[in-house]
Amino acid sequence: MKINDIKKEFPIFKKKINGKPLIYLDSANSSQKPSTVINRMSYFYENEFSNVGRSVHTLAVKATNKFEETRDLTQKFINAKHREEIVFTKGATEAINLVANSFGEKFLNKDDEIILTELEHHSNYVPWHYLRKRKGVRIRFAELNDRLEIVPDSISKLINDKTKIIALTHLSNVTGGITPIKKIIDIAKTKKIPVLIDGTQGAPHLKLDMQELECDFYAISCHKLYGPNGLGILYGKKDWLDQFPPYQGGGGMIDEVKKDNITFAQSPTKFEAGTMQTAEVVAFSESIKLINKIGLKKISDHESKILEYAITKLQKDNSIKIIGSPKDKASVISFTLKDIHPHDIATILDDDGVAIRAGHHCCQILHDKIGVAATARASIGIYNDKEDIDVLIESINKCKKVFE
Ligand SMILES: Cc1ncc(COP(=O)(O)O)c(C=O)c1O
Repeated sequence: MKINDIKKEFPIFKKKINGKPLIYLDSANSSQKPSTVINRMSYFYENEFSNVGRSVHTLAVKATNKFEETRDLTQKFINAKHREEIVFTKGATEAINLVANSFGEKFLNKDDEIILTELEHHSNYVPWHYLRKRKGVRIRFAELNDRLEIVPDSISKLINDKTKIIALTHLSNVTGGITPIKKIIDIAKTKKIPVLIDGTQGAPHLKLDMQELECDFYAISCHKLYGPNGLGILYGKKDWLDQFPPYQGGGGMIDEVKKDNITFAQSPTKFEAGTMQTAEVVAFSESIKLINKIGLKKISDHESKILEYAITKLQKDNSIKIIGSPKDKASVISFTLKDIHPHDIATILDDDGVAIRAGHHCCQILHDKIGVAATARASIGIYNDKEDIDVLIESINKCKKVFE
């Protein structure tokens, strides 16, 4: 499939927004869905629906098989060693909460230290904060350099014999900066410290290979990967998941329940309590197929061209200030425009059918660091093209005129 034809695969682009063609530059928030994913969900409900992992009737067995096929596809997609290392969650947030809870419960004690960075999304800070409250652990923040990059050295400096885990983002949802995670994982490995990567923004743009990367945990958000909402994935090394206590209790995750004792299933079942998202998991296989059909290399080359085009155009206007200047960057541009409030920018752009995000993007620590409460953010997905950027620039110029 040619990447230039991809827009046609996403039915939402046939719609007009405020009478204008939709220019969707908010994929870092959530991506649009291709018809293959939408149709797969409908087909499942119309023809194959049953709960999974419970009944033995024909529909239930078929639905369970389809559900598990997505686990196999995901395993291949990220080159995980074992299928049991793929746990379905309701999002990347839940994936990180799972690790913080289960790892925290078993392996963390008072005064132990967790290393995060100033770049983290609240989803990779708040779950660790609870451990600070509950167990008296300490959180240390690796500082960013002037380009707002995470440098391995800033992590190394914080490591000591109290350090029990390092958790950091693969790709910043504010600056678009790509973290040199392999280097950081290698440093951590020499000290036997596990690493969790928040791959929410990384997975849609960067090729993943868990066996090569050797991180311990990697959180994925399916709704940013052209897949259904309400679905995420936790990759966790089998050795860890085998040792983890369950995260939530309920049906489906047990081995045996007695009045005085309960034993639990193995991973991943142990972590998938209650009725799971069924149509969503089944349909996510179509997202993987779409990405595989085009190839992540082509996707990232295409997105890089659009990103470069956008940055060059935005930089021509000195009333626009782009947040951060990471050398290695993908798909996300946050900016301020004079002293116009980002919500006003987003509202005015919306009149032109241009969808961007405004706010602190769930990164208040980073916004505190740069001394602004909010920024505007344009983020690029598989379906964007240079024309989208031209409309963005025209619309920004219009916005400036409104505030002249
Ligand atoms: C870097 C980062 N981490 C975590 C999340 C949370 O992901 P989810 O919506 O799948 O819970 C987001 C969502 O915007 C994000 O950008």
